Amino acid sequence: MIPIKNPEAIRRMREACAIAATILARLKAQVRPGITTYDLDQIGRDLISSFGARSAPYGYKHGSGRPYPAYTCLSVNEEVVHGIGSLKRILRDGDIISVDVTIEYNGYIGDNAVTVPVGAIAPRVAELLQVTEAALHLGIKQAAVGNRIGDISHAVQTYVEAHGFGIVREMVGHGVGRQMHEEPQIPNFGRKNSGEKIKPGMTLAIEPMVNLGGPAVRTLGDGWTIVTTDGQPSAHFEHTVLTTDSGPEILTIPRAT
Ligand code: MF3
Ligand code: CO
Ligand code: CO
Repeated sequence: MIPIKNPEAIRRMREACAIAATILARLKAQVRPGITTYDLDQIGRDLISSFGARSAPYGYKHGSGRPYPAYTCLSVNEEVVHGIGSLKRILRDGDIISVDVTIEYNGYIGDNAVTVPVGAIAPRVAELLQVTEAALHLGIKQAAVGNRIGDISHAVQTYVEAHGFGIVREMVGHGVGRQMHEEPQIPNFGRKNSGEKIKPGMTLAIEPMVNLGGPAVRTLGDGWTIVTTDGQPSAHFEHTVLTTDSGPEILTIPRAT
């Protein structure tokens, strides 16, 4: 069963998501050639604390592995998601970096990500970014009351594959609320009219992860960083969305400053 949020939970989700989006906007503005991903993560840490929020990934455990050691997820080029900021990873002209900010504020979680170019990037890589972001928005459109979760998945898959890119299957979108990962799972591939029915009051993180080359990925020895097996670049865009009777509403929109 997919949790339905009551009005108070929705109020808090709005707050948390607005903060997550404002932090993401400010952090992505710091991306430039020469900066290390460690420095970006430290900036992320400071931004999160300046809002009185908490990093949801920091200290997060899955399975028996070591807790996630960074405040944000910073994934460069062939890194798909869950990259850990490092002094050794210096951004260079022509790179891309996926910035994923997940925060908890007042008991609720906002989750959002973008992939941004570092300087000038190759045309096919620019297309990868455009297609992944457009796929996210096509998926969001399907998060309509009366549709099913599979309609989101199908819309993303169809569009991405039509452009010849590879869809990552090992990681999926998800419900989000008091917990970072709630029901349902939202794969970026699937069949129309499959899965649970969408009702008002669901908060869903929709997040296509798309590879320039093949869909295969593996985990690095740090236990977290997911990379493409073929070493080609990967993009990731994510929003937290509220389902309503008047259509899907993106909650991860920055506050006017
Ligand atoms: N932000 C990620 C997501 O979109 C979750 C972070 S996983 C962590 O689901 F392990 F880094 F916390
Ligand atoms: Co995320
Ligand atoms: Co997510």
